[in-house]
Amino acid sequence: MGSPPVKGFGQGDPALARWAEQTFAPEDAVLAEIRERSARAGLPTIAVGRMDGLHLEVITRAVCAKKAVEIGTLGGYSGVCLARGIGPDGFLHTIEIDPGHAEVAAVSFRRAGVTGQVRIHVGRAQEKLIAIEREGPFDLVFIDADKQGYPAYLTWAEEHLRVGGIVLADNAFAFGHIHETAPGADAQAVAPLREFADRLARGGRFRATMIPTAEGLAMGVKVR
Ligand SMILES: C[S@@+](CC[C@H](N)C(=O)[O-])C[C@H]1O[C@@H](n2cnc3c(N)ncnc32)[C@H](O)[C@@H]1O
Repeated sequence: MGSPPVKGFGQGDPALARWAEQTFAPEDAVLAEIRERSARAGLPTIAVGRMDGLHLEVITRAVCAKKAVEIGTLGGYSGVCLARGIGPDGFLHTIEIDPGHAEVAAVSFRRAGVTGQVRIHVGRAQEKLIAIEREGPFDLVFIDADKQGYPAYLTWAEEHLRVGGIVLADNAFAFGHIHETAPGADAQAVAPLREFADRLARGGRFRATMIPTAEGLAMGVKVR
């Protein structure tokens, strides 16, 4: 099944999603340009949805996050939302394994006017996270990369977030299959995402919830 190219908001009536988008106007011209240019550049259409991007900005603002980490940059769509949330006195480290994606993201950050607040680390998250550890503790970690990596990324967040810091993770519904046996390619995502959710919910390090977006946005506050 995978991610739909156009992501709605919530699991219910699509008319409610349309109302929310009309009312809250989550995607301005800068974000729309990133989505279009990323598609033209041949990037997969797997950026967060419009309302997801707004959630990221608003949550980042709400917790006054200033030091943030994103795992999975793609073309910079969610990175711009996070950078807007942390503001000009904040800093975002964003990690991307694919140099072509990182090039598109660099243009996105420049056009959004947030270049001074963002550093793109090109390489495997597992290695790049180690390289930024000394700059912690961080206020917010957003996980949106390879699903097999989610349990390890959660472990990193447990160790490098401050108490009161936030972990967010997209695709926490495992493309609609978190509760069942998944067909095809989605099957490989289910076990690590279940492990991630079980530890986030019951591991004792976070007080956590699921924001019921189309993809499932897991959110936890580090409590110890
Ligand atoms: C779902 S996309 C990220 C979307 C982005 N957060 C947004 O909403 O605009 C996942 C990205 O993670 C990258 N990725 C996959 N495995 C990775 C890894 N091990 N380390 C770093 N990046 C990885 C992919 O190349 C892809 O660009």
